[in-house]
Amino acid sequence: MEVLIKKIQNAVRDVCIGSKFYRHTIWPHALGVAKSAKDFAETLGADLFVAQVGGLLHDIGAAKFGKDDHHITGVQLASPILLQCACPLEFIGVILSCIYSHRGSQNIPFQTQEAMCVAAADAKDHFDYVDELWLSHMRDLNTPTLFIFQELSDKLERDWKKTDPQIKVMLDGIYDRAKQRLVGIADGCIKPRERFYE
Ligand SMILES: [Fe+2]
Repeated sequence: MEVLIKKIQNAVRDVCIGSKFYRHTIWPHALGVAKSAKDFAETLGADLFVAQVGGLLHDIGAAKFGKDDHHITGVQLASPILLQCACPLEFIGVILSCIYSHRGSQNIPFQTQEAMCVAAADAKDHFDYVDELWLSHMRDLNTPTLFIFQELSDKLERDWKKTDPQIKVMLDGIYDRAKQRLVGIADGCIKPRERFYE
């Protein structure tokens, strides 16, 4: 499975690095979500491969076509990637389901535990990297500064609402810390930092 994961990871990286929508942030985000989704799956006894690959691919639609409907464009883009990488057919449907239901803004129920892990991992990455969300809205999305605070507050709230209660227990305090940091950045007391990744 390691070779297959590497192949899929490389395909995702190519799309992310070439993104004209989220040039600065989407690749480290995909890696971070893949890692956390796998960690959650391990804790909950879910399938590690599906969770990890679902995490890698979850935002591929946003990387290629922008935020709108990226849970749908992501499924459309991920299907040929998984087939080209020779992902076993029995995994493809469940991986696509992770992409389809990951968004906090969409009321799409989780079909599997792995899908729940991917959505929670996406939320966790947003909480951990509020700075990056801020920078992304400024640089990549050109959101007027005045609106960034409200947009991100709403986003974090939606993310938290969508996070499964079992995983919320594992993320003790993370939501409050993220909100506090967001206030600090908006106030100008905290200068948002880039994420370091290898
Ligand atoms: Fe995401």
